[in-house]
Amino acid sequence: MRKVHLAPSILSADFARLGSQVEEALVAGADYVHVDVMDGHFVPNITIGPLIVEAVKPIAVRFGAVVDVHLMIAEPDRYLADFARAGADILTVHVETCPHLHRSVQAIRELGVRPGVTLNPATPLGALEEILPYVDLVLVMSVNPGFGGQSYIPTSTAKIRRLRAMLDVIGSAAELEVDGGIKPDNAAEVAAAGATVLVAGSAVFGGGRPIADNVAAFRRALV
Ligand code: DX5
Ligand code: ZN
Repeated sequence: MRKVHLAPSILSADFARLGSQVEEALVAGADYVHVDVMDGHFVPNITIGPLIVEAVKPIAVRFGAVVDVHLMIAEPDRYLADFARAGADILTVHVETCPHLHRSVQAIRELGVRPGVTLNPATPLGALEEILPYVDLVLVMSVNPGFGGQSYIPTSTAKIRRLRAMLDVIGSAAELEVDGGIKPDNAAEVAAAGATVLVAGSAVFGGGRPIADNVAAFRRALV
């Protein structure tokens, strides 16, 4: 199996103790920090912006971890430079928010950041076909974006498998990330379908268990 990275989503962290919670996840072996940016327009919820990216960046740097920013916002082009400046290593935009997706992807790369693209559960993979050669990451949403703690949509596994085949056909080395409802219980299924980065929010920071135990449960599920 390919190497699979764990990307804890800080959306489910305790924001009063954000730094120590991120550090705990990275000490336990996570190697991405997933930051969910929501604007109350593209998705119903409002979350966080560049200030939080800037705050977690030095912690990620200390552990050699990737700051993975998922933009669930309308008109993301307006904010790409701000997130780049704040320290994003990956900036992922939704195809549904970018009428000129190739230009958005180019703009991200010109800012020195690795570009990612993503799509909602009901958006067909065909929407990605032309952009795949230009991106470093493709994110499959396995819940409708907006909130942590939702259930994995079961048909996502077949979608991941089809996307894996599309990437392999063009010889792309892009990461295939999956986001939403990922737990130790379904992590192996998602990885076997071809994912290389698993986002997990509530399964890492929720549930009242120690973060290190939650990360260890993912590691055990992925051997
Ligand atoms: C959903 C976000 C996810 C979310 C994942 O809109 O993009 O990253 O925080 O949370 P869980 O793992 O709890 O489904
Ligand atoms: Zn996300």
